[in-house]
Amino acid sequence: MNFIPYGKQHITSEDIQSVIETLESDYLTTGPKVKEFEEKVASFCGAKYCVAVSNGTAALHLASLVLLNKEDKVLTTPNSFLATSNAILYAGAKPLFIDIAEDGNIDLDLCEKMLQEDSSIKALYGVSFSGHMLQQEKLQYLKEKYDIVILEDNAHAIGAVYNGIKAGSCTNSEMSIFSFHPVKHLTTGEGGAITTNSQEMYEKLLVLRNHGMVKTPDMKPWEYEMKSLGYNYRITDIQCALGISQLKKLPDFIRRRVEIAKKYDKAFAGSIVKPLYTFDGTSSYHLYVVLVDFTKLTISKEEMFEELKKMHVGVQLHYIPINKQPYYKELGYGSEHTPVMDRYYQECFSLPMYPKMTHDQQNYVIESLFEVLK
Ligand SMILES: Cc1ncc(COP(=O)(O)O)c(C=O)c1O
Repeated sequence: MNFIPYGKQHITSEDIQSVIETLESDYLTTGPKVKEFEEKVASFCGAKYCVAVSNGTAALHLASLVLLNKEDKVLTTPNSFLATSNAILYAGAKPLFIDIAEDGNIDLDLCEKMLQEDSSIKALYGVSFSGHMLQQEKLQYLKEKYDIVILEDNAHAIGAVYNGIKAGSCTNSEMSIFSFHPVKHLTTGEGGAITTNSQEMYEKLLVLRNHGMVKTPDMKPWEYEMKSLGYNYRITDIQCALGISQLKKLPDFIRRRVEIAKKYDKAFAGSIVKPLYTFDGTSSYHLYVVLVDFTKLTISKEEMFEELKKMHVGVQLHYIPINKQPYYKELGYGSEHTPVMDRYYQECFSLPMYPKMTHDQQNYVIESLFEVLK
């Protein structure tokens, strides 16, 4: 069996043709494909506006510059990729790490406790971990009751739907971000996007993406003005041509992921391998995460990773708690009371899942895992 990675892009000849056509066109950087991709992502998610950028981290950075002020306190999760809370720091604000709930997402009840205790908390950055959206009715409640700003990091969750609310629709948040890194649902190579329903925020994001430069019709042909400190976080037409082509296949990609999830759910039912959650129709399954209590086994997690690697099965770990990273410890983090996250971190790992994964590969992953854990 060839090596089975935990995630992998699915590029078709149609995708390649779209990129070639753009390479042969007049625009390589900011041209018609960027606008078309933005409109298609916005319409797919049911948001009014979309700004496509060079990667998901850039999306988080720009969103944070618009949403946060220096010193703002922001509730966030330790169970994410570094970029989520790094973006809070980029804006000069202060992440407050809250424990996770049993589904791997930030615990919104604990968030409410924090909001009751500290009325100076300004924002909540939640992650739709593994493709499982935040409980929307609780988000709406927190937003209305405590008047906080909400960002949904949907890097894992394009295509997810929670009680009819689509990931990225910003129904209960100011902004949502996506990543189009190759392991995600759809790819532009590197790439990301921000969605919002606020025209004012949309216009600020456009300016920040392009050096803070503004050019208005009344200006002389060579004139432009810089009124804020922006960046070059532009995405290219080449990348967006790929994104547009990939977006057409997204429902099919998600259907494949759900099929794999259901197969895993069935295989692990009643065993020592506990899925983080089983299929309930809401997750778009960027990841399939399982929990194993290694204290009850003779093999350690590290040994299991090694054994599976030898058998050509690539498992991965999502995530090391961000607040325990050396950089964060130097800032004084690391000793938050996060018992659920701590236990989760001991037990979790992610199994291979990607649209092109064959039935044989799925069976092989299941058999290899049971073989190693037995
Ligand atoms: C939850 C989450 N947020 C943000 C990012 C950053 O996205 P990118 O890698 O496109 O910068 C990632 C990427 O892995 C992620 O998983």
